[in-house]
Amino acid sequence: MQEQLSALLAKAQNELPALKTRPEFEAAKARFVGPHGELTALMKQMGTVPKEQRPALGKLINETKGQLQQQLDAALRTIEAGELQAQLGPAVDPTLPSPDAGPGTYHPLTLVREEMCRILRKVGFTVADGPEVETEFYCFDALNTPPDHPARDAQDTFYFPDNARFGNVSKKHAHEKYLLRTHTSSVQIRTMLKGEPPIRIVSPGRVYRRDTTDATHSANFHQLECLYVDKHVTVRDLKALLDYIFASLLGPDTKTRFRPHYFGYTEPSFEVDLTAKHLPKVNKEWIEIGGCGMVDPAVFAAVGYDPETWTGYAFGMGLERLAMLLYGIDDIRYFYQNDLRFLKQFA
Ligand code: DAH
Repeated sequence: MQEQLSALLAKAQNELPALKTRPEFEAAKARFVGPHGELTALMKQMGTVPKEQRPALGKLINETKGQLQQQLDAALRTIEAGELQAQLGPAVDPTLPSPDAGPGTYHPLTLVREEMCRILRKVGFTVADGPEVETEFYCFDALNTPPDHPARDAQDTFYFPDNARFGNVSKKHAHEKYLLRTHTSSVQIRTMLKGEPPIRIVSPGRVYRRDTTDATHSANFHQLECLYVDKHVTVRDLKALLDYIFASLLGPDTKTRFRPHYFGYTEPSFEVDLTAKHLPKVNKEWIEIGGCGMVDPAVFAAVGYDPETWTGYAFGMGLERLAMLLYGIDDIRYFYQNDLRFLKQFA
């Protein structure tokens, strides 16, 4: 019996380390220690052993059982390590350059944004930034947009729950409803509250609206906002600036026109169209590109500027729309899909 037990151990020592898979392991485990296995068979022979030898033999069987179990555990650990290694694949060095990484390219929206900022810096504008999470004050109230204005509807604007609080607004407005800004015009308010006229800023950034995505709509997109506040600013200054920036961006043959419109924060207000013979997407049509106007006295009042002293113009436009015209892109969704076949065309 003792010999059989040590033969069993030796056999296990021989076979178990060579196991590669779980089914092999389960089969071996059944063979060695299962209810129909070899150890059980030996234990069943206890009855044939003289009574006085039984305690010593019982102890030996238990020891053997323990050793078999240890060997089985070790074999299972080896198999598990093998499985993990198979999942991980060959060792990688994450610091090595990827074999198929070419030089990076700028995203087309980045290209248009930077070009617009460069064009505006040349005539004295500085880049201003504002948060994407705003309260109703910065996005609507200070911009002379009354509480019942349709743009403020929960159908169009993403609101945070009533109890949401963010640390980016002054104490006075901290208890208002928070929202994702629907336009970059909120940066006008931020900038005027922070500083003193004269002010000349351009503010590109991401904005959010509850739009269903299609070829021309996206629930988040980008705008570029400009604000100029000084003494004796006129509509002519505004028109001249728009002519200058679009001719600089799209070519000297680009023309702009104003159509009367309504915005709460400007008076008078206009929609801006442009046409450019040489752009295939424009196709000799007038294309609406943004909104603009002379800063409404109510906006100056909201930020504590004397409307009798200060005048100004503001405009805002969509960066996607501009990039689509410039590069001949016909679906806004291309901008967000990160498809290298699209992005590499802007190298
Ligand atoms: N905020 C407007 C929009 O999102 C665009 C706009 C219109 C901006 C007139 C302005 C402005 O600064 O004066 O459609």
